[in-house]
Amino acid sequence: MSLSFKTAVVTGASRGFGRAIAAALVAAGTDVVGIARGEQDLRAVRDELGDAFTPVAGDATGEALAQQVIREHRPGLVVLNAGATPHMAPVHEQTWETFSRNWHADTRHVFTWTRAALREPLAPGGVVVGMSSGAALAGSPLSGGYASAKAAVRYIRGYAADESERAGLDLRFVTLLPQLTPVTGLGSAGVAGYAARQGVDRETFIAGMSSILTPEQVAEAVVELAGDPGGGPEYLISGDGLRPVG
Ligand SMILES: NC(=O)c1ccc[n+]([C@@H]2O[C@H](COP(=O)([O-])OP(=O)(O)OC[C@H]3O[C@@H](n4cnc5c(N)ncnc54)[C@H](OP(=O)(O)O)[C@@H]3O)[C@@H](O)[C@H]2O)c1
Repeated sequence: MSLSFKTAVVTGASRGFGRAIAAALVAAGTDVVGIARGEQDLRAVRDELGDAFTPVAGDATGEALAQQVIREHRPGLVVLNAGATPHMAPVHEQTWETFSRNWHADTRHVFTWTRAALREPLAPGGVVVGMSSGAALAGSPLSGGYASAKAAVRYIRGYAADESERAGLDLRFVTLLPQLTPVTGLGSAGVAGYAARQGVDRETFIAGMSSILTPEQVAEAVVELAGDPGGGPEYLISGDGLRPVG
């Protein structure tokens, strides 16, 4: 699919879903500015994807970084995918610091970039895709505040879409809710936690999952949603494909 914009920003582009999203966007002819904290992983992505990938090492929650990247690169698409791996433990074995981890990383960076997208603003026709989780609907009792941090991502999407419309900015805000998958670092930690809770090994737990979502499927979905101005605001994605929420 060819996309109408020249440049995209992907947060959390060094591993997992973000890396696959960056690769799919480059394959679709888009320049990608990829953000993550770990320089070495980002450099490996650059080696794989070539000059179309610009690595930017930094904490995606930082306001100055968001403002600077949007001003310098004027992206037509911003994919807010960065996320912390939750501390896997039941609620009474969490501390406030572990419980709130995903609010300080996932939610804060979605807030920061959404705010910047509205205030700079992005050029008309711009798209912001935020990564929530199926856990925002179902809960995730072993992940502390993860599910609520991802629920906040959904609310921020709705608020931003309303403000864009009020101001006539012509921006589109979309949220993706992936199913838990064992194939990324974050998902693997989740699977290990839930397998241990059920008293089964990792392989038995995975065998009981109805379908396995791959990073490539998530990447394909992001490219599809970015290129579809008539698409809906929120989608669940599992190994079986995309499904509108509600
Ligand atoms: N995998 C699943 O099962 C699943 C299910 C539902 C939703 N999701 C969501 O999908 C997104 C991607 O998950 P994933 O499984 O691909 O995770 P992952 O493999 O652990 O990758 C996370 C990425 O985010 C980056 N990151 C984390 N904190 C950051 C920060 N403060 N600033 C900049 N970059 C940061 C990491 O790089 P550095 O650590 O080097 O910064 C890495 O590139 C997350 O938002 C996650 O919650 C995942």
